[in-house]
Amino acid sequence: MGKGKLHRFAENETFGCLVQTPVGSIIRYDAGGLPIIEDQALKGCWNGNMFHNGNPIVLELGCGKGEYTIELSRKYGERNFIGVDIKGARLWKGAKFATENNLPNVAFLRTRIEFITAFFAPDEVSEIWVTFADPQPKSPKKRLTHPDFLNRYKSFLKRGGLVHLKTDSRLLYDFTLETAPSAGFKVLAADPDIYSGDLADNLSEIREIKTFYEKRFLEEGLPITYVRLQYS
Ligand SMILES: C[S@@+](CC[C@H](N)C(=O)[O-])C[C@H]1O[C@@H](n2cnc3c(N)ncnc32)[C@H](O)[C@@H]1O
Repeated sequence: MGKGKLHRFAENETFGCLVQTPVGSIIRYDAGGLPIIEDQALKGCWNGNMFHNGNPIVLELGCGKGEYTIELSRKYGERNFIGVDIKGARLWKGAKFATENNLPNVAFLRTRIEFITAFFAPDEVSEIWVTFADPQPKSPKKRLTHPDFLNRYKSFLKRGGLVHLKTDSRLLYDFTLETAPSAGFKVLAADPDIYSGDLADNLSEIREIKTFYEKRFLEEGLPITYVRLQYS
């Protein structure tokens, strides 16, 4: 591992806004060798122990370096934002920025999203963003909007809560529209190219902030798609 990464990992340990848990503390095996996901200390306590307020919690799944989480937190000061990703060296950037700028409504969680139910309690989360997730062309079950993932999200998302998907992948866009209803999510909006033509008034804000990858894909001329789901 390069020195830069090692330095980032060491600095990650010092950030109060970054929660990291080794996989060994999340998964336990029962007597028959079956894996059990163990609840983590912050489950049900994010507002009390991390943010010290009662504001709605919004997650960004696969947040990378956390730019979108940070921009959203600046726009919506009355909400709490948690960026989730598995890559510590990427999260370092967002966590360092949030720490140095004393952002009170931003946190980051390093985990595989497969284990997300260990970290959030029923009704703890109001909204979820899935931004430019890997479309996993050969492994549909690994897609972050696969019904298996949506069912995990339902264990902590409030009824009526939203899941937003922004992606350059037509495959992931079509897949999500087709499969989300089977997991109990209603499609509230879908647009196959949000930067072409007019958007409905209630969608215009999705253009206002762009993720790191979104800017890159736009430069390459790729259409950006958007789906808004509601846990109904
Ligand atoms: C293409 S990047 C997008 C980053 C950011 N959302 C953006 O739009 O700029 C996808 C990110 O999702 C993360 N990711 C993908 N699958 C994941 C999983 N199962 N658990 C945690 N993170 C995951 C990757 O580590 C990567 O940082």
